[in-house]
Amino acid sequence: MLEQTQSMAHGGATHVPLVLDPAKLKRFVDPLPIPRIARPAGKRPSPANPQTEIAYYRMTMAGFESRVHRDLPPTRQWGFNGLSPGPIIEARSGEGVFVEWANQLPRRHLFAIDHNLHGAERDKPDVRAVVHLHGAKAPPESDGYPEAWFAPGKSATCYYPNQQDACQLWYHDHAMGINRLNIYAGLLGLYIVRDETEGALGLPHGEREIPLVLCDRAFTTDGQLSYEVSPDPAAPWVPEIYGNATLVNGRLFPYLEVQPALYRFRVLNGSNAQYFNLSLSSGQTIAQIGTDQGLLPAPVAAKIVSIAPGERADLVIDFSRHAGEQIVLMTAQIQEVMQFRVTRGSVAPGGSLPEKLRPVVAIPESAAVRARELTLREYKSPKGESMTMLLGGKHWDMPVTETPTLDTVEIWSLINLTEDVHPIHLHLVRFQILDRRPFDQFLYFKTGELRYIGAPIPPKAAEAGWKDTAGAPPQMVTRIIARFEGYAGRYVWHCHILEHEDNEMMRPYEVLPPAAKRQLS
Ligand code: C2O
Ligand code: CU
Ligand code: CU
Repeated sequence: MLEQTQSMAHGGATHVPLVLDPAKLKRFVDPLPIPRIARPAGKRPSPANPQTEIAYYRMTMAGFESRVHRDLPPTRQWGFNGLSPGPIIEARSGEGVFVEWANQLPRRHLFAIDHNLHGAERDKPDVRAVVHLHGAKAPPESDGYPEAWFAPGKSATCYYPNQQDACQLWYHDHAMGINRLNIYAGLLGLYIVRDETEGALGLPHGEREIPLVLCDRAFTTDGQLSYEVSPDPAAPWVPEIYGNATLVNGRLFPYLEVQPALYRFRVLNGSNAQYFNLSLSSGQTIAQIGTDQGLLPAPVAAKIVSIAPGERADLVIDFSRHAGEQIVLMTAQIQEVMQFRVTRGSVAPGGSLPEKLRPVVAIPESAAVRARELTLREYKSPKGESMTMLLGGKHWDMPVTETPTLDTVEIWSLINLTEDVHPIHLHLVRFQILDRRPFDQFLYFKTGELRYIGAPIPPKAAEAGWKDTAGAPPQMVTRIIARFEGYAGRYVWHCHILEHEDNEMMRPYEVLPPAAKRQLS
């Protein structure tokens, strides 16, 4: 992707700018921006207990400009309250908050819309948005259903009860058929849930707890976001977007000054399709202490941390033996991401990581009342030039087929019949990965029979916690187990490669109320 390619980033613009070669940009000249913590706009009575009041936030989606690098002109972006990533919402476990998401976006999109995609037809406004809090156990009307989008001038207020363990969630647009474009434009931000169990562990905090939102992007030579399109202007959708540079909290190649001490990094892969394999130029190990839905049972030390689109990794890096050094955070694909400049000062005291973090009790397979087999599969159009990726062979608008009952456990077997890894995400619930197991793809295509051809592979240590997004590799069956708790109602599950999600690799699912309640109503 380093060669210059033609791009049509501006939809109707007359000139066709070239894609910027980030190898030409000076490294590590901008300090890492740290998104500010959002301040509530007021308080409202709690739906759970009207005697008490809870925080009320107002987050406005609008266009803004900011420099992603010292030597580039300002970049037009979309963000929340003038920032991308948006301000961080900090919540306490068990204390609900309201967020009013207001759409004040411009009426023209930054990128070309593909009106052939379901939900993005010409009768819909080009610019529309709906915000989903990824990983939240939220009531269905507050979950940001893809079809519940609203146009500029409108807003929606969501209630997040935060009845869940400490974890790092993220909010992002979810508008049907264009969410890949809205997120690429910048509509994403972090949401951190804290609790006492985590607080008692003495993990690095304050100035030593740093959010890192990583998004791969491509830019034009005049510093604007470039979203690649297909050669056919009537059907601009492309199957995946890979940028040649990585924004870290909205900046290219930033640096961060750190002390020779332990630091906690709350990492989100906010890319559309890019997987990151993160490592440090010093060759030192990174301790992963948490994943999507909170802390792992114990830290997992590794030289490379893998993180799929939509996933989060809670990392601790020990700089105490590196005073005076400059350490580069790298990815296997793009190389340099950012630099840590370790100061010379003496080592800060109290720098060690607990050996145990938070127990993760395995859901026994015997608890499952139902097992579902769900394919991940690509379908070519009759002429073979376009393709659709479907879950369970079903389009978005076909009747709902996944209908777990509230408070029951199910096992979902994700049968990947494609050649790609698909990071599969379920709304509402947290799940555990049971295993991944190779199977005979040809036999499955021919007869629909699922025959395993190897032993089940347990999840990696860094995945052996509570997840909400999991990579389903090709030619494997990935089994996940979840208790469908929280709320009955309509949710979605989908691939978190946003180009796939926008082209039907997303399905509604419905949590049914328990049978006894169903009979009464
Ligand atoms: Cu990160 Cu359905 O979303
Ligand atoms: Cu989600
Ligand atoms: Cu996918």
